[in-house]
Amino acid sequence: MKQAMKRWTGIFLALALLAGLIFPLSVTAAESRPLTFYVMSDIHIYDATEPRHEGDQNDVNISPEAFHAAISEFLAQPDGDILLISGDLTDDSRRIQHEGVVRELQRVTDAGKKVFVVTGNHDYHRGAVDGGGLYDYVPRNRVPEYYNAQFGYQAAYAAYDDFNYAVELAPGYRLLCLNDDDNGSGQRGFSETHLNWILERIAEAKAASDEIFGIMHYALLPATEFYSLFAQGEMIPDYERISTLLADAGMHFIFTGHTHIRNIAQKTTAKGNTITNISTGALCAYPASFRKVQINNGTLHMSTLELESIDKDLGGKTLREYQYDRFHDQLTELFHAMGSDIDAFANQAGTLGLSREIVEDNKALLSIVGKVVNRVTLGQLSLLFLTFPERSVRKIKLADLMADFVFNLYAGDRSYGPDTPIGRPLFIIFKRLDRILGLVRLFGVELPFESLTTLMGGLIYDPLSSSYGEFLL
Ligand SMILES: [Fe+2]
Repeated sequence: MKQAMKRWTGIFLALALLAGLIFPLSVTAAESRPLTFYVMSDIHIYDATEPRHEGDQNDVNISPEAFHAAISEFLAQPDGDILLISGDLTDDSRRIQHEGVVRELQRVTDAGKKVFVVTGNHDYHRGAVDGGGLYDYVPRNRVPEYYNAQFGYQAAYAAYDDFNYAVELAPGYRLLCLNDDDNGSGQRGFSETHLNWILERIAEAKAASDEIFGIMHYALLPATEFYSLFAQGEMIPDYERISTLLADAGMHFIFTGHTHIRNIAQKTTAKGNTITNISTGALCAYPASFRKVQINNGTLHMSTLELESIDKDLGGKTLREYQYDRFHDQLTELFHAMGSDIDAFANQAGTLGLSREIVEDNKALLSIVGKVVNRVTLGQLSLLFLTFPERSVRKIKLADLMADFVFNLYAGDRSYGPDTPIGRPLFIIFKRLDRILGLVRLFGVELPFESLTTLMGGLIYDPLSSSYGEFLL
């Protein structure tokens, strides 16, 4: 009898173990199923018959070719059949541009793959629709006619309106596709009714133990504190409150565009919930790329695929060389203009997200700063703060360094850490300046930031890679 009991106990244990291996009971549906998808942003399709935006960070003149190459690259991927696009499909919502976007998206659906799009602030025309030829603009209410039948909305299990919908990406995974232009009112953000609808969808997914991702155009979290100081208009308004609400409701990841900055920003709420904002840069701006997201065993792996070439004559340069030179030269000219032609600086600064009003309001101050940074070198500045950088970097003008900082921010390569030749003296200077500013505050002077080391340090150095990441779901 004892022998038989032992045998049955052994068989029972073996079966239980086997069942545990096949159906791990402690793992939710989302954690146990692999999923792969890709994310592109800010395509800005423009008609090639009328080149323009030469001074823009975004090179719309190569946008049709860049989008075509990116779609080909996506279709050639051996794994994953889902593509998400976070807005600014067109450059200024002309019919010819929407038709160009649809032609490319059609290649995706023709190949039996899925694409989900949301619209951005460039995807509809707010002014009069004058019609005809190249100037046949598409007003907001007609934009869904181009996308809703095949490129996402048609698969919705819930919809707030023609621009906001929720879909199941795969069993265990949902996607909330959000249009964050406050329903076309010209403001960014969500109305309270809209926000409640979003929170209800997140709660619904959570109740089903499904992972729900978000995708929208404007940034939920700023790329850096410095950026938030000068470019409030690039995030959704009230982003501190909304990001807390989304995170506490149960959303862990949101994919955004608009800033054209390649970055990852994270926030943990007071309740201990973390939301990660993965921002994808503009497809036709340096460095032309898109995201690959793979989920395995409860971990999200994010990587970045860079376009190697496009079907366009780039004067003998590779795509990377062409884009690098173009953007780097633009920024160098911009910061040189700060010292010699403040109006030219004001004209171009807006294209980088720097509010034109801020530039106009502070023209005199910026002009003085511009003259100083175009004369003073890193070595001279360091001497003032009793620190000495390596010889190799001493002669770099501050204006060129500033151009470099902005370049690196957009490129997702903020690598001047405290242990690098350029970062080391700068971090020492920031810390010393913080002590001085601490004294200034004692006299009741209010500053728009708490720590210069955090503010400026975050601009030049980001320990979180913008291209790769592994995050627990
Ligand atoms: Fe854009």
